[in-house]
Amino acid sequence: FLSLRFHLTREKLQEVSERLRKDLIRGLGKHSHHKAPVKMLPTFVRATPDGTEKGDFLALDLGGTNFRVLHVRVMEEQQRVLKMDSQICAIPKEMMQGTGEQLFDHIAACLYDFLLSHNLERETLPLGFTFSFPCEQKEIDKSILIRWTKGFNCSGVEGEDVVKLLKEAIRRRGDYDIGSVAMVNDTVGTMMSCGFRDQSCEIGMIIGTGTNACYMEEMKNVKRVEGEAGRMCINTEWGGFGDDGSLRDIQTEFDVVVDEMSINPGVHTFEKMISGMYLGEIVRLLLVRLTEDGLLFGGRTSKALLTPEAFETKFISEIEEQDNGLENTQKVLSKFGLKWDTVDSCVVRLVCDAISSRSARLCGAALATLANRIRVNRRQERLKTTVGVDGTVYKKHPNFSEELRATVRLLAPKCDITFLVSEDGSGKGAAMVTAVAQRLARQSRL
Ligand code: GLC
Repeated sequence: FLSLRFHLTREKLQEVSERLRKDLIRGLGKHSHHKAPVKMLPTFVRATPDGTEKGDFLALDLGGTNFRVLHVRVMEEQQRVLKMDSQICAIPKEMMQGTGEQLFDHIAACLYDFLLSHNLERETLPLGFTFSFPCEQKEIDKSILIRWTKGFNCSGVEGEDVVKLLKEAIRRRGDYDIGSVAMVNDTVGTMMSCGFRDQSCEIGMIIGTGTNACYMEEMKNVKRVEGEAGRMCINTEWGGFGDDGSLRDIQTEFDVVVDEMSINPGVHTFEKMISGMYLGEIVRLLLVRLTEDGLLFGGRTSKALLTPEAFETKFISEIEEQDNGLENTQKVLSKFGLKWDTVDSCVVRLVCDAISSRSARLCGAALATLANRIRVNRRQERLKTTVGVDGTVYKKHPNFSEELRATVRLLAPKCDITFLVSEDGSGKGAAMVTAVAQRLARQSRL
């Protein structure tokens, strides 16, 4: 049953990769991008770091598990990006679905608290804002939210310039100021923070609450932005892959339910089959079905198991752990008030493995598409490149990264890919983008 519904053959993965290849082209096209499910958003990041960037920056990071404020120092001599200090600021669930004004007032207040407690309130530091939602970027400091994803749904922000909303909130307070602002997606931040260490880092990928990737595209293919020379980083928003129905053949009825129950049905189909916000729920639905069919727990569900979103994605990682996995499984099942025996716990592990493997392989197929595209763009026989990666699913799951890599090797055999796991990538990377923008401005003045 599991392998029938969730196993993707090599041929199927190849097909998925090929569909994405075509969708990348649609997203880049001047006339086709409006309707394209994969948005391929220009980021106005035209260069990766060259190692000469420097200075002190503030960074805001919104859109993952937590909202964070950081003070970052970019050091030229040692080619290092240092996180001087950082602070996590909770965003209450009501606020995630309240008004935009409340959200930005809260962000401005958190930033002020941070500045005060680090004696920075009188400095006017440049700020990198990692805002991990699909944005139509007009300039590095002008970025219009296309739509919320990942459980956020604040009113009055879609269609607005996020930098303006942040600046207005700071102005409403009137007790501090910030310098120039650079807006970045978390994928871009991740690529840029890895790029300081490894200058061949040209892809950034996130597999956490949501999933997405960016890469360096040839300007001549970015039809929406003037100019032919050089490259620009494109935020693919691959989470939206399948929103036109192109993944219907691999969607299961469980994926359909997860989509229908979400706050944005029909949107971000690919993401809902892959990322941390949804994997636990797919597993839960599957366990309920198997129990109702009499194949698990003697046919008896429990209140906890029947509660939407009660099965967290982190349980999947615990359950699949090599050494303590079986023990962990039994702890989770007991916590869920289920009557299990050894066979049940083995089946639960298989269920988790089926769902996480599918996620890893789909991501691998998508990454292979990007790597193949870069190789063909550059007319190279072999491509050597580095991918900066972040996200709880990639980092915490015991065999996700191995499975993903194996899929990429299979589907992009002419690409040698190094994976660099980024630490605080999206925050440090936002500072890096700001630093690179300043370097380019400095160089163009010379
Ligand atoms: C969602 C967002 C995207 C972000 C990703 C990972 O897919 O739309 O902008 O990069 O999550 O956080």
